[in-house]
Amino acid sequence: MSTFWSIWIMALAVTNMGITLFLFLWGQRVEIPVLPDGTTGHVWAHGVLRESVRKLPRWWVWMSASMFAIGVVYLALYPGFGSHKGLLGWTSHGELARDVANNRATARGFDAYYLSVAPAELASNPAAVQLGERIFIDNCAACHGRHAQGNKLLGAPNLIDADWLYGGDDATVKTSILNGRHGTMPPLGEALGEAGVGNVANYVLGLSGAAHDAQAAAAGQPMFALCAACHGPDGKGNPALGAPNLTDTVWLYGGDLAAIKQTIVAGRSGVMPAWQSRLQAVDVHLVLTWMRAQSD
Ligand code: HEC
Ligand code: HEC
Repeated sequence: MSTFWSIWIMALAVTNMGITLFLFLWGQRVEIPVLPDGTTGHVWAHGVLRESVRKLPRWWVWMSASMFAIGVVYLALYPGFGSHKGLLGWTSHGELARDVANNRATARGFDAYYLSVAPAELASNPAAVQLGERIFIDNCAACHGRHAQGNKLLGAPNLIDADWLYGGDDATVKTSILNGRHGTMPPLGEALGEAGVGNVANYVLGLSGAAHDAQAAAAGQPMFALCAACHGPDGKGNPALGAPNLTDTVWLYGGDLAAIKQTIVAGRSGVMPAWQSRLQAVDVHLVLTWMRAQSD
């Protein structure tokens, strides 16, 4: 707070308390003229009501006086009087930091327990699953969908099925989350030419048993050698590269002819951000626990 505002607030506080204290003291002494009938002479409601004079009750006077004392003591002890920090040194930041530290200390006991139980087993613990769901909604749902069902526009995979790009064991999934992943499918439209793209795409359709043009697929088969380097000679994928299995019915970007052609022509480059600087080990463990609880 700048000196100006500090002095401004002090002046306001002193003026306000000064005026009210003056009114309070003056109100004790002021003589109100009283008529012989004990009223002030004020008449209300066409003569029905008259205003009489009563002394303030003692308790009220003492209570009001003590309010001034409490106000002064409060401003001495706590921040509030300009930039005066208060004799107790209390701050709302400090209180928050203390609460956070206390919560951490309590949570640490739970962390050790959670980390000691495998996600598949911990998935039957509703409290752990609920914590994991919170972490998922806050950090992952935007890309993977509220129910982890995936998002074909982003190439974000379904996380609760049995199909994995990089591997589905606990350690590999945690590595995916902590380090992030970046699968790169190069654009091959130019290398293959328009007809070539259509032929390979039909061959890819055939790999999963989907309806396709058999003649085009036969023409595309030799060109699949280009793809085999990453997707494997039989198209079953390669978890080391995150190259998807093309023989199943699970699709990152879509499994119709148009989507497959688009993938081949323009390439794909799905980015999974790294979370190691944002999530603690226990957070990753809990979010995986939630994923395990969803997939049955
Ligand atoms: C910005 C979007 C985005 C966010 C946010 C995001 N992901 Fe991903 N995630 C992706 C994409 C895209 C991929 C696929 C990466 C690839 O194709 O190489 C992916 C891949 C993964 C994989 C690997 C799946 C497999 O089949 O091997 C896991 C596990 C995963 N994400 C978990 C999470 C978790 C848990 C969170 C939240 C902490 C999260 N993701 C947040 C976009 C995202
Ligand atoms: C350099 C390695 C590499 C080569 C070569 C390659 N791919 Fe890929 N492909 C990938 C990767 C990695 C992905 C996943 C991209 C992502 O995660 O965004 C992918 C994704 C795909 C997909 C999307 C699958 C889905 O589930 O939506 C199709 C289809 C595909 N590739 C077909 C092919 C075809 C056909 C060829 C050959 C003409 C080919 N790829 C060549 C690495 C490769």
